[in-house]
Amino acid sequence: MSLWRPTAILLASDLPLIPPTRLRAMTLPTFVDLNLDPFWMPFTANRQFKQSPRLLVSAAGMYYRSIDGREILDGTAGLWCVNAGHCRPEIISAIAQQAATLDFAPTFQMGHPGPFQVADRLRRITPDPLNHVFFANSGSEAVDTALKIALAYHRLRGEGTRQRLIGRERGYHGVGFGGISVGGIAPNRKFFGSLLAGVDHLPHTHNLEHNAFSKGQPTWGAHLADELERLVALHDASTIAAVIVEPLAGSTGVLIPPQGYLERLRAICDRYGILLIFDEVITGFGRLGAPFASQYFGVTPDLITVAKGLTNAAVPMGAVIVRDEIYETFMQGPAGQIEFFHGYTYSGHPLACAAALATLEIYEKEALFERAASLAPYWQEAIHSLRGLPHVIDIRNLGLVAGIELAPREGQGGPRGYDALCRAFEAGLLIRVTGDIIALSPPLIVERSHIDQMVDILSRVLQELP
Ligand SMILES: Cc1ncc(COP(=O)(O)O)c(C=O)c1O
Repeated sequence: MSLWRPTAILLASDLPLIPPTRLRAMTLPTFVDLNLDPFWMPFTANRQFKQSPRLLVSAAGMYYRSIDGREILDGTAGLWCVNAGHCRPEIISAIAQQAATLDFAPTFQMGHPGPFQVADRLRRITPDPLNHVFFANSGSEAVDTALKIALAYHRLRGEGTRQRLIGRERGYHGVGFGGISVGGIAPNRKFFGSLLAGVDHLPHTHNLEHNAFSKGQPTWGAHLADELERLVALHDASTIAAVIVEPLAGSTGVLIPPQGYLERLRAICDRYGILLIFDEVITGFGRLGAPFASQYFGVTPDLITVAKGLTNAAVPMGAVIVRDEIYETFMQGPAGQIEFFHGYTYSGHPLACAAALATLEIYEKEALFERAASLAPYWQEAIHSLRGLPHVIDIRNLGLVAGIELAPREGQGGPRGYDALCRAFEAGLLIRVTGDIIALSPPLIVERSHIDQMVDILSRVLQELP
């Protein structure tokens, strides 16, 4: 059951009178006149969207409300980020109180309690010995920060030749120059010149021939980690600073690591003194049923990047959490000297800190990570019940994540997935698509009845999808 009160009504009588890029809606009690043209939307086909917009006007718990007053079940926790469900009163009041008390304070040569408190709280749920936290404002910034820490760390230890960064094909690490360089998505890279120098990539692990319809971690593919040995042989370990991977790749369509793969990557990094960075922007904060994927897989990286669920997405915040030894390496030299020439005006912003503290409190009090773990088997069976429906060529899942891969339409990747997104939205379900792969990642407060509702809507959508 949702907590909805209608807040938005589309004035149908206005529609014929307005140009296609303008939309009039009445949001009680305010009248909103929307000009859709000036906002250049990110990662969106702007012209297509503005011809037929999908607008959300409010949210509570597991549901959004669309501008035409419909309830939309959130199958994606917004963008993999609203892990505790929408508009949590505890988070709202923490932010409001903070805004009224200390709206902003610098963290360059100054401080306020917030980031110290959040870092200390985070430390308690991160794997040991990752106990030091550097704040950013997004996943992209967290990734770029982590890459810089890795490079500077080696230099400080007298291994300044370690400048090469290794990412992975189909990896998504945000949109900064560092992130797109180590990332493995062609459209995100090809427009932007030569990117960072000295980057190489591991192969991705996605393989339908061997692993289609795997439940949980697929059995085939651990050997793909050995490609790191090949890169070491090619470049020499003395030139390699770090390897960065998503433990479970979300944005390129839910790519689940094969059994033993991450362990092997860890072992090879150890053998050659290469730092291992887990980008946990999606997997952090309970998505797999443990605080971090690192704990879920039992593989401890040297740095973890987080964002999204850190504040339940109520205020933007990202962070890098590093091993004690990395932090200590920076804390050398004269005590009056700045140790790391890096930071953002909003590193540790008071409102983000307030949101993070309230969010972390909810995760703990409501045991949401454990809840995700206990729902995972039900989730798995429910999602795999879609096997056999038209176009479905793979279903994969882990924790509270699932990917449903559809056959491309007439050899062209994308249109079928986008069609599914539109139809699901019309039917009252928010899904995410990457090409023809549907990704699902509901808030961790999801009930079995919501899972049933998702599967029911998806089943109808897939049966009708051309
Ligand atoms: C693994 C991963 N890293 C980094 C990012 C970038 O985060 P942001 O969009 O907050 O910059 C994302 C976003 O989806 C992500 O999934």
